[in-house]
Amino acid sequence: MLGIDIGGSNLKGAIVDMHTGKFVTERFKVRTPDPASTQAVADAVQQIVRHFDWSGPFGCGVPAIVRKGVTLSAANIDDSFINADIQSLFSAVCGHSVEILNDADAAGMAELHFGDAHQPGGVVIMLTLGTGIGSALFSEGHLIQNTELGHLKFGDSIAEKYCSDGTRKKLGLEWDEYGKRLNEYLQHIELLFSPDLILLGGGGSKHFDKYGQHIKLKFAEVRPARLLNDAGIIGAAYYAHEKHRSA
Ligand code: BGC
Repeated sequence: MLGIDIGGSNLKGAIVDMHTGKFVTERFKVRTPDPASTQAVADAVQQIVRHFDWSGPFGCGVPAIVRKGVTLSAANIDDSFINADIQSLFSAVCGHSVEILNDADAAGMAELHFGDAHQPGGVVIMLTLGTGIGSALFSEGHLIQNTELGHLKFGDSIAEKYCSDGTRKKLGLEWDEYGKRLNEYLQHIELLFSPDLILLGGGGSKHFDKYGQHIKLKFAEVRPARLLNDAGIIGAAYYAHEKHRSA
């Protein structure tokens, strides 16, 4: 199945083996157009579809709330995504049916099905630490979509402005300071959801060894996700595969 991950800097795609979750092709990247209007992004998606000479349904993860193929928010993407029926638009431009889901939900699905957290029970939360913070919430392996835990009110602002990897870079935070900020946020998440496991993905998860010692929760286990930057592509492909298998 073809999976595509739409990000602020690049769109990335690959064909994924649905038994193993591994890429069967090289990853192909296209720069995110500027401005990233829905039409320009649809054209970039089509470029990836053409590159792989793909015909048939495929999956696409986007950094927004997604309901029934319509994106309802645009925190780190172009405002034209607000209330846009991108499922219909992408399908029309590419000539194939597309399944759309939130990028962090996609990454979480990939980790649960193919990563270290393979089918654990209980409550699992995946948080992607990138420009923003994305989230995926699972109860007994079942995904509750569009949780947007990066937008929890936090201090004077929201969590992703306090402790995303983007904020760490922007403010030039030392690892110790960053670890403490992230710990405050994770303690809040633990208080609200009592998760068994919190997986940290996205760019920020690569540096877990530099700040992990500051994470002190009551019982939730915290560990970096395994699939790193590939999780969004793998999860988007898996989502489309599952939708079409059950159709
Ligand atoms: C968006 C989420 C997205 C996350 C990671 C947030 O700003 O609101 O929908 O999952 O960034 O890209």
